[in-house]
Amino acid sequence: MLAPVHIPVLVEETIGALAVQPGGRYIDCTLGGGGHAAAILERSSPGGQLLGIDADPEAIKIARSRLEAYGGSTLLINENFVNLQAICYKYDFLPVHGILFDLGLSSLQLNGNGRGFSFQHDAPLDMRLNPNQELTAADIVNTYSEVDLARLIKTYGEEGYNRRIARRIVQERPVKTTLQLARMIKQVIGSRRRRIHPATKTFQALRIVVNQELEHLESALKQAVSLLGFEGRLVVISYHSLEDRIVKQFMQREAKDCICPPGTPTCVCEHTASLRLVKRRVITPSLAEVQINPRSHSARLRVAERIIAQDEHYKIVERLCSTAEVKANGWRRPILLEKLREVFLAA
Ligand SMILES: C[S@@+](CC[C@H](N)C(=O)[O-])C[C@H]1O[C@@H](n2cnc3c(N)ncnc32)[C@H](O)[C@@H]1O
Repeated sequence: MLAPVHIPVLVEETIGALAVQPGGRYIDCTLGGGGHAAAILERSSPGGQLLGIDADPEAIKIARSRLEAYGGSTLLINENFVNLQAICYKYDFLPVHGILFDLGLSSLQLNGNGRGFSFQHDAPLDMRLNPNQELTAADIVNTYSEVDLARLIKTYGEEGYNRRIARRIVQERPVKTTLQLARMIKQVIGSRRRRIHPATKTFQALRIVVNQELEHLESALKQAVSLLGFEGRLVVISYHSLEDRIVKQFMQREAKDCICPPGTPTCVCEHTASLRLVKRRVITPSLAEVQINPRSHSARLRVAERIIAQDEHYKIVERLCSTAEVKANGWRRPILLEKLREVFLAA
């Protein structure tokens, strides 16, 4: 039987958003099957380098064989992207030209790899990206109180029937498998919801909690900015509104020089913008892409570019201007910007 493949989403848009260039240095924080990574390596050749990270050891194995041809240009690490900064310092991989997060799960994980991510296949209720982690979905459904379960399903699944589902889970415990849980939820919700499977939102909620997905995303975004060189790009593809809200709010906040609450007479936050929004609107797949790859339908891509604070910028330009080289050549703004890039992206 052929192994399931993951079709990468918004590939051309991602390469464009990352502004991939030959010789560039990139991080793929969610390596998966290596589809985006292969495209980045292709376009950054010659001389491009890619650090690929995935919390799932299986994903690393698959990506390693897919990216074999790029050999020395890749460094693939089985880690959680919540440790992004530490990984980059450990492997001396910074500053970088672009960082990609393609959130969620790959088809390889959803297509029944026995880890319980999907209600389409029967498997133990596990849902851990990293099998070495302790907490599983079964621990949650079988030990949390009814109130906590309802709250979790509401908060992370945005599920309106959260209380009924939680009550049913508690009545039927122990709940051991994906199909057992999916069947119970279907019985609770009945045919009221037709567009998506009744268990979709509850499964999403459990997966988010098991893997601390939202907390890790918030932390990793902050770390990513600090690793980007001048004009380096941050690109995030998300698949549900909770993730997308975090990404949108983060980029909007980081694109502002002041984040004091509205009405504050004088600025007290001392915040300075670190990003520029490259596109204000979210990028979504074309109809043609959704037809070929239905899983892409909920994808939302956001992109921002690293800027440096005005005073930092002036200081560097001043320093450059005072060099004999600049004086002798009478270099102007475009050349100085080029020099700035060199300073920030020095290997
Ligand atoms: C949608 S897939 C990425 C697919 C990939 N872009 C490709 O082209 O094949 C998401 C991947 O991110 C990984 N992942 C999710 N959260 C993670 C985290 N916090 N740290 C590291 N990897 C994570 C998952 O294990 C999964 O393999």
